[in-house]
Amino acid sequence: MTLTIANAEQALIEKQHQLNLRWYPHYHLAPRAGWMNDPNGLVWFDGWYHAFYQHHPYSTSWGPMHWGHARSRDLSHWEHLPTALAPEGPEDKDGCFSGSAVVNGEELALIYTGHKFEGDHTNDDNLYQVQCLATSENGITFARQGQVIATPAGLHHFRDPKVWRQGDAWYMVVGARMGNTGQVRLYRSTCLREWQEEGVLAEAPAGMGFMWECPDFFTLNGKQVLMFSPQGMQAQGYKNRNLFQSGYLTGQWQPGDAFSQQSAFQEMDHGHDFYAPQSFLSPDGRRIVMGWMAMWESPMPEQQDGWAGMLTLPREVTLDANNRLQMRPARELENLRQSWLSWPVSTLSNTIMPVMEHCETAEVMLQWDLAASDAEQYGIALEDGMRLYVDNQAQRLVLERNYPQFSLCGQRSFPLPDTAILSLRVFFDSSSVEVFVNDGEATLSSRIYPHARQLSVFAWSGNAALKACGAWHLE
Ligand code: FRU
Repeated sequence: MTLTIANAEQALIEKQHQLNLRWYPHYHLAPRAGWMNDPNGLVWFDGWYHAFYQHHPYSTSWGPMHWGHARSRDLSHWEHLPTALAPEGPEDKDGCFSGSAVVNGEELALIYTGHKFEGDHTNDDNLYQVQCLATSENGITFARQGQVIATPAGLHHFRDPKVWRQGDAWYMVVGARMGNTGQVRLYRSTCLREWQEEGVLAEAPAGMGFMWECPDFFTLNGKQVLMFSPQGMQAQGYKNRNLFQSGYLTGQWQPGDAFSQQSAFQEMDHGHDFYAPQSFLSPDGRRIVMGWMAMWESPMPEQQDGWAGMLTLPREVTLDANNRLQMRPARELENLRQSWLSWPVSTLSNTIMPVMEHCETAEVMLQWDLAASDAEQYGIALEDGMRLYVDNQAQRLVLERNYPQFSLCGQRSFPLPDTAILSLRVFFDSSSVEVFVNDGEATLSSRIYPHARQLSVFAWSGNAALKACGAWHLE
């Protein structure tokens, strides 16, 4: 362990004892203490799922980036490991930015962005972002191998390498900003150390952002999915409401060819807090995605408790015939289920009814009979802070937060699906809610900050019918 990493560990051990745990997650991954943003280096290696993440151990705000590290056997229980990377080389002196991991024979290889200024830090002309390599045999301590790709001429923002193996080569996509245009650039290598430029894989048309962060490129259903997080898209009606978006395009690509895009940009998630998702493969071939469950520049009340930021649940993604991603909670999460409680409710008429005294770690299941419900609003409410409801006039499913004390008030929503039944799986943890709509059709993920946790069902101005409802208490 280097001195820089030992110092980070020391700081974390001290700070960990001072946390206020009221909003600390029970089954999601969050930093031991300090700040977390993007998931990095998600990978299966040596019998474990590894999750690295952007981490600032010394404070609850973003700062010189380290790579935090945790591992899990089952995607549900996480064990923290020592900080994997710290900004300590000439190539990454101002931060080890986002990147990915691949298994190369017996080795685990991390490919990440070295972030460095040469001169005044407030001037982007002095910014250099380069791609770096670090390797490990035990999956715990990493040997720095230095820079493997320099900043291309004319670029300053050039980051977040995602590497995969295809045929007899390694490929890498990197996010970039050319002037005011977001790009994804492609590279190829046979050894992870020397890389050939393969050009621009995709570029933002007008209105699609000045920088594309955290690209990922994978195959589902015989098609290629380009997932990325554009900065600079404007809000439009119900769309693109968060400061930055995360979404995907689909198309066709094979080595040596250009990417031919087949479908328009779609947002991945429809809640307040979802950014910088990254995917990985499980050993049985499932494509799984985790994102950062927070948003740049949004208030994070847990900062006063000694930590900040968490990751979403792992989600299995598939592509349907209309080129739309479907996301379902990783099936391993069913192992967290303990006791099931059915709620004795079938119809609600202009009323609110408590169904759970303390909803903290729960998977709530609801099947609303859309055809048999005429209430103007019906759904669930966590005290006066959070509501998830059908807005019958707008024909939308709405996730609403109401925490004026934290300046976190507002709604996100998704059009009601065209089905007779609206089926919802809703995962509550201490400061988060993740909604899975109709077995994969949409997700809404938001941070919540409850002071009390009674959960109720309600229907206003009319009747609402529930085909089934209840909750699993989660471990
Ligand atoms: C995305 C991002 C990445 C960058 C990292 C820095 O949230 O801005 O582009 O590598 O965070 O922490």
